[in-house]
Amino acid sequence: MNTTFRFVTALAAAVAVLSAASYLSVQAQAGKSVGDGVYTAEQAKRGERVYAENCGFCHGDDLKGSDVIPALTGADFLGSWKGKTAADLYEKIQTTMPATAPGTLTPAQTSDSIAHMFAVAKYPVGSAELSAKADELKQIRIDK
Ligand code: HEC
Repeated sequence: MNTTFRFVTALAAAVAVLSAASYLSVQAQAGKSVGDGVYTAEQAKRGERVYAENCGFCHGDDLKGSDVIPALTGADFLGSWKGKTAADLYEKIQTTMPATAPGTLTPAQTSDSIAHMFAVAKYPVGSAELSAKADELKQIRIDK
């Protein structure tokens, strides 16, 4: 009887510790995923035009790149970007792309081109546009 009671108490304590741990790990990863609907369909349409005018001739109409130019979608792309955030991607594009004329995109055009990349990756659309603000983009994990 006493042994059973002690076992149950120990079990309850273990459950409490485990649920506290999983609560903390959720807290640590606070924020959103690219799977959470972080751009709109209309924004991706605009981004498609930005992409066609500024990026497609290097990265390909299908975003699949070439022998010398990296893909902006698919497994190779995710190999480099999984675990980073939309802010990292924004920073890379805004400061270094288009490679022939870095810094020529407006902040909105950079976000729109990312929305196009997300649409090609088949991430779900949402009700709010992808922001061009670093602190908001930092909340969005590229995790799939
Ligand atoms: C003149 C050709 C050219 C154009 C135009 C161009 N890129 Fe690039 N891009 C490259 C090359 C080459 C690299 C690889 C070197 C590097 O990372 O800087 C690259 C890398 C990238 C990367 C990083 C890929 C990775 O896996 O690390 C992203 C994202 C990107 N480009 C987005 C864009 C976008 C968006 C546009 C249009 C606004 C664009 N690029 C226009 C040539 C180009």
